[in-house]
Amino acid sequence: MVEAHLNGVRNALAAGWRALNRGGSALDAVEEAVVVMENDETFDAGRGSFLNHDGKVQMDALIMDGATLRAGGVGCVERIANPVCAARKILSESPHVYFVAEGAERFAAEHGIPLCRNEDLIIPREVERLREYQSHLEQHRADLFAPTISHDTVGAVALDAGGDIAAATSTGGTLNKAPGRLGDSSLIGCGCYADNKTAAASTTGWGEPIMKLVLAKWASDRVASGNAPEWAAAEAIDYLKIRVNGHGGMILLDARGRLGIAHSTPRMAWAFKTSLQEASGITRND
Ligand code: GLY
Repeated sequence: MVEAHLNGVRNALAAGWRALNRGGSALDAVEEAVVVMENDETFDAGRGSFLNHDGKVQMDALIMDGATLRAGGVGCVERIANPVCAARKILSESPHVYFVAEGAERFAAEHGIPLCRNEDLIIPREVERLREYQSHLEQHRADLFAPTISHDTVGAVALDAGGDIAAATSTGGTLNKAPGRLGDSSLIGCGCYADNKTAAASTTGWGEPIMKLVLAKWASDRVASGNAPEWAAAEAIDYLKIRVNGHGGMILLDARGRLGIAHSTPRMAWAFKTSLQEASGITRND
């Protein structure tokens, strides 16, 4: 699925860039980029997500505005095709930051986001993946969180013409997860963070170790100490391995437009664009 991932991140980049080009904010750009990946069955977000132990899609998402530190998050939603849009509604239209499960779905519906059936988010590839996994549970128990088990959370970071940064992350979580399990992706500072004074970060990978280190905030704070995002992202991914034997990936962007991309998973697909440069790829660690 290498080409599918590459196309997916390129399409997301194009959507984010279109938002910026029409004068949209960094928040608009990250939301629109993530929507494209949620709609793309290649990734573990929206339709096509990994299934939980009960064979359901259960998703988490967060979006954060670096200018105001406003944030919106949803956890364990089952009937929203684009959880990042529900998260954006929470950021802009609620005094709260975080909604879960039925309460999140109710908030979304009351704010114009259509609800779908959980079955609409399930695809045959994931039914088969779960069936295969559960039929070899003993064999798989040890490698549940191995780097080779796909972690396909999606994320975006952006800087707009006004100098503001934002980040968004969306996921279906881990394969065969317990119903109700929440990962890092939708937790502020863990799977997503944005502050104009530090940096905007989005992470992918095994959620539990990332949560323990509050890794997105950890990396952003190091940018505030004067380090380049490129260095801070690499340090964060190293720290994840050294401190809690975790693995994952991170994109990190500061308000000066400096970017960092790092991962310890075997591969990670990424794409970026500035007014001067555009690039995309799948980097490998093997
Ligand atoms: N990073 C996605 C998750 O563990 O839920």
